[in-house]
Amino acid sequence: MKIAVIGAGYVGLSTALNMAELGHEVHCCEVSEERLALLTAGRSPIGEPGIQEALQRALQEGSLQLHGDIRSAAHESELLFIAVTTVEQYNAPLLAVAQVAIEVLPAGAVIAIKSTVPPGTCALLQKQIRKTDKPVYVAFCPEFLRQGHALEECRRPSRIVVGTEDEVAREVLHKAYAPLLERNRSAGCEPPMIFCRPSSAELSKLTSNLLLAARISIINEVADLCGRTGGDIDEVAGIAGMDARIGSDYLRAGPGFGGSCLPKDGRMLSVASAEVGLQSIAIDAVVHSNEDRIERLPSQLQQLRAEVGATGAVAVWGLSFKADTDDLRHSTALSTVTRLAEAGLSLQVYDALARHELLPAGVRREKDPLSAARGASMLLVLTDSQALAAVDVQALHEAMVAPRLIYDAVRLFDGAVMHAAGLDYRALGRG
Ligand SMILES: NC(=O)c1ccc[n+]([C@@H]2O[C@H](COP(=O)([O-])OP(=O)(O)OC[C@H]3O[C@@H](n4cnc5c(N)ncnc54)[C@H](O)[C@@H]3O)[C@@H](O)[C@H]2O)c1
Repeated sequence: MKIAVIGAGYVGLSTALNMAELGHEVHCCEVSEERLALLTAGRSPIGEPGIQEALQRALQEGSLQLHGDIRSAAHESELLFIAVTTVEQYNAPLLAVAQVAIEVLPAGAVIAIKSTVPPGTCALLQKQIRKTDKPVYVAFCPEFLRQGHALEECRRPSRIVVGTEDEVAREVLHKAYAPLLERNRSAGCEPPMIFCRPSSAELSKLTSNLLLAARISIINEVADLCGRTGGDIDEVAGIAGMDARIGSDYLRAGPGFGGSCLPKDGRMLSVASAEVGLQSIAIDAVVHSNEDRIERLPSQLQQLRAEVGATGAVAVWGLSFKADTDDLRHSTALSTVTRLAEAGLSLQVYDALARHELLPAGVRREKDPLSAARGASMLLVLTDSQALAAVDVQALHEAMVAPRLIYDAVRLFDGAVMHAAGLDYRALGRG
């Protein structure tokens, strides 16, 4: 099948490469000249495991072709995935992409939206199509991949959801995914392919992310309570998660969730509710709890620093919004670093993957964790990267200067070991 993919970010590039691996002829369009130049040179603009190798393979085999404009990518495509950036307030950019696609696609083609959109977007697109004479069909196919596992989760999705009212769209998407279903069936892990109403598919994506966000917002507030009452949040979460109705995922307390999805998708649900005159008390609480937490963190850290009399440089480990990704979009670690730098602190940071061009001026990026800690009186651990837990604690003591205050927002270390090494170790959620 000839398939077009618009947008070559985490979702678009992973989708394009996955479709190419399934034997389809894929034409991927990317508007950013910088990203397109990288892709054309066989270099992935996103840091995801396996994606660089898959990109080079697809380019060599000719199963992936790159384009700078939608028209050439969409030309004669039977199916076109839209995977462009979206924002919570409006979907005009996505509908503009779709408008060009409608003009170029052949009759009978299907537009499948993968970007996360507000409920009602498919209906708007259908209206847009009806204004033309083109028999083009619409589906919403939510993407559930996790960054850090993007390509792997495209290859082995937990479910394939197709929200559509059109039989043609059902057939075309089934044809596109048939090789994936077959491959996974042979491996004994065939995902369910679910056909549903467009609005159900749209809301299923937003609801999934809101539920994940809700767990984090709640566990973060319980972590604060543990800090005041002598509990240990990991013990609490571990025990609660043993209930099969609850489960243990997304119960890891931290500095507040970030990234390009969870914060935006919660707000998107809130805006969607308000637009139809509904109150969204629980939804708003999830969003506000997190925003408030992120807002308060820099001043809490300043206060802690003053309490122990730490002066001079502050080291930071972890910048991306979570471990194993280079993505700094809406990263709590990055916003904290930015706010502390604006307050005049001298910061020396380490992150194995994050792209450094987004760092605020005056913040020093170091090549390894101990270099970042050298000469600092305070260290902030803000990303849950297990590689950091392997740092030699004695060497850390030697690198830092008194009072050697460590604030670990993700509890990578054993408090007893840190105290025995002479470090003033404080962990979020441990009283
Ligand atoms: N990142 C995730 O983990 C994830 C998971 C599920 C869903 N989503 C959703 O998927 C969508 C894309 O997310 P992402 O993380 O891949 O974003 P991204 O910013 O990494 O990628 C989007 C890409 O689209 C390109 N683009 C924008 N407008 C374009 C246009 N008119 N023509 C061609 N290219 C264009 C951008 O330059 C960018 O490279 C969003 O709606 C997001 O909410 C993301």
